[in-house]
Amino acid sequence: MSKRPLLVRKIKNGTVIDHIPAGTALTVLKILGITGREGYVIAIVMNVNSKKLGVKDIVKIEGRELKKEEVDKIALVAPTATINIVRDYAVIDKYKVSLPDRIVGIIKCTNPTCISRKENEPVAPTFKVISRNPVKLQCEYCGTYVTSEDIVAQLTK
Ligand code: CTP
Ligand code: ZN
Repeated sequence: MSKRPLLVRKIKNGTVIDHIPAGTALTVLKILGITGREGYVIAIVMNVNSKKLGVKDIVKIEGRELKKEEVDKIALVAPTATINIVRDYAVIDKYKVSLPDRIVGIIKCTNPTCISRKENEPVAPTFKVISRNPVKLQCEYCGTYVTSEDIVAQLTK
């Protein structure tokens, strides 16, 4: 148990997204569509010390749980994140986000002439995960590399 007081109090019910790469908390909130105007109690902690990461961000959302599609998107921008489900102050479930070896859908190829971008082609954009941290993907149709910055730009548009 740490002897230092908590920077932000514990939440009663909701989700704590922990071990977010430092500087990425606002991107995570944007992906969740959270603007602050929905009324949830939210704590954003940025650039705090972490044994595992050196420095990290944390997002606590009172009264909101995450859908699988939301967690899959978070994995693309915050591949080290841990999702903690809190009920009545206790962490009842904890899991790391996970990036599969292939990503189908979710993002578009950045090459405008890629076959996966043609309107009438029934092909879903598919990428091979080349690197996990930082995330780098490669389009299975045209070979174009998609960087972490490209992914953030698309998911926060
Ligand atoms: N947390 C919270 N409110 C609660 C319970 C936990 O805000 N009611 C937060 C903690 O402050 C921490 C995260 O959720 O940021 C995970 O809590 P816990 O599993 O208790 O902490 P650790 O064991 O330190 O987590 P880990 O091993 O994943 O680093
Ligand atoms: Zn492509």
